[in-house]
Amino acid sequence: MKIDNRRHYFLKLIKIIISFLFALPFQTNTAYSQQMTENTSFKPGGQWLADDGEHIDSHGGNIIYVESSQTYYWYGEHRGIPRGASCYSSKDLYNWKNEGVVLEKGEIEVFERPKVVYDQGNKKYVMWFHFDNSKYLTAELGVATSASPTGPFVVQDHDRPNGHESRDIGMYFEPDTKKAYIGYAADHINKTVRMVELSNDYLSTTTNDVDIDAHCEGPGILKKNGKFYLLTSGCSGWTPNPATYYTAENIMGPYTKHGNPFVGDAGNNSFNSQPCFIFKIPGYKDAYLYMGDRWNGRGKPESEYVFLPITITEEGEMEIHWYNEWDLSMFTPEKTK
Ligand code: GAL
Repeated sequence: MKIDNRRHYFLKLIKIIISFLFALPFQTNTAYSQQMTENTSFKPGGQWLADDGEHIDSHGGNIIYVESSQTYYWYGEHRGIPRGASCYSSKDLYNWKNEGVVLEKGEIEVFERPKVVYDQGNKKYVMWFHFDNSKYLTAELGVATSASPTGPFVVQDHDRPNGHESRDIGMYFEPDTKKAYIGYAADHINKTVRMVELSNDYLSTTTNDVDIDAHCEGPGILKKNGKFYLLTSGCSGWTPNPATYYTAENIMGPYTKHGNPFVGDAGNNSFNSQPCFIFKIPGYKDAYLYMGDRWNGRGKPESEYVFLPITITEEGEMEIHWYNEWDLSMFTPEKTK
């Protein structure tokens, strides 16, 4: 009897130890348990974990939607180690899978603001980026390509477009003509923005390259009802500032200057963010996603994102309102999928 009892307690103890050892990783790795929570909304300015439980490290970039795989890809600066371009994929824009560093910058001193366009005909992903030296005086556009959305991207070239300085860049893809354009903070040291049309294969810039009188950075472009909107930040490095928007009947201008679209922006600092891209969300009417970076004065890997809906009012004015939390139900679906 005594022996049986001892055996019983011994087995019980073993069971407890085994269940404790199995449960341990789940209890101690809070990142893992956080990763299990599915996101159902955008929370501007908050910590945003990818599937690996780490804060998304993809700054100053853009989002594309690939119809064939019904997948969104988010590219941006990977500001952690190794420096370069990161890629995340998603089916719903809220939950992102880390696809890793798709371009390592290597010898490039400054690699910033990557923007990807998909060449459907040639099944090629083309990444444009700000190529510079540490003093920001090289001021060139770089271009890299990949056969897969998740890389690796290989640098093909870098140069000043039509001889002009190029620093912060934005991109606009015209779905009707399949043409792509780059808006770039240009001469001399961002005193003006230029808009350049890319070649049909998106691999080079053309000579269709115009000057827009705007001393600014962080250009983002959208089109509504045939009218183009160019959103820009001021020039104060990592520190946020008031934004300005411009409108034109043609992507190449002439552009008219308007005010600051951030409504009720008490700090007059674009809700503590700097624009990097405007993504037209497919499947919804007039669904324009403002993508901004909250650099926190430093541009660290843990910098947050400010994603907000952009409204174009009936009078044709651009407005960006703050929401602590919001989701796509704010937009009207164009068709049921
Ligand atoms: C900002 C620019 C960033 C980065 C930073 C460096 O004005 O938008 O992309 O270049 O300056 O200080």
